[in-house]
Amino acid sequence: MTWAVVPAAGRGTRFGAPLPKQYLALAGRLVIEHSLRAVLDHPGVDGAVVALAPGDDDWPGWREVGGKPVLTCTGGAERADSVLAALHALPASLDEQQWVLVHDAARPCLHRDDLARLLELGQADPVGALLAAPVRDTLKRADDQGHSQATEPRESLWRALTPQLFRRGGLTRALEAARRAGAAVTDEAMAMERLGLKPRLVEGREDNLKITTPADLALAEFILSRSSE
Ligand code: CTP
Ligand code: MG
Repeated sequence: MTWAVVPAAGRGTRFGAPLPKQYLALAGRLVIEHSLRAVLDHPGVDGAVVALAPGDDDWPGWREVGGKPVLTCTGGAERADSVLAALHALPASLDEQQWVLVHDAARPCLHRDDLARLLELGQADPVGALLAAPVRDTLKRADDQGHSQATEPRESLWRALTPQLFRRGGLTRALEAARRAGAAVTDEAMAMERLGLKPRLVEGREDNLKITTPADLALAEFILSRSSE
């Protein structure tokens, strides 16, 4: 059994809309609805827990998608807190060894082929895996005055995307350890790496973008219009 965890308790500060970005309309649905449907569409994903901000009533919520349960819980101050809250809200029947797929509510353009490959390769890995894209730009290291002082090799650098796939018990322990240490972990893989574990990088599509600014929403509209052709 594999469940999804969808952190959706952010405020969308950088986007700057009156509503958090996950509740904005996109191609006939809300952003969060695309993200949730993208993970639940896969036959190997059995249900989802969505972490919402306290008092969030911008989304009436879905109780199920295609017969699969959608549960909600209250998220926390940081993304990692929201993911941890959702892990604790998973059904008790999902034991420690079961896989959990963490996917940002703000990533509505996840493609089914990427999800399928992540599940296949991640579940064959002892640690787990994440979708990621190789860095394509030339990278500059800046000095304190904003001048470029060096060019960094990019060959081994990747951008972390979601979904990220880990076992329920291992991921919960990794996020709790990061919290105890006061370490700001910005994704699940980082929490695992802190324990010396090496998640597999599964190359994903560049168009699995995270909505951060209004320009991203326009781009997502375009990406979704092409994928439904
Ligand atoms: N998220 C969350 N709980 C938080 C912060 C973020 O569940 N305390 C979720 C967001 O809702 C989003 C995902 O984590 O689905 C990625 O976060 P990000 O893109 O940073 O979204 P926001 O925090 O909402 O945006 P911003 O940082 O611009 O405020
Ligand atoms: Mg944020």
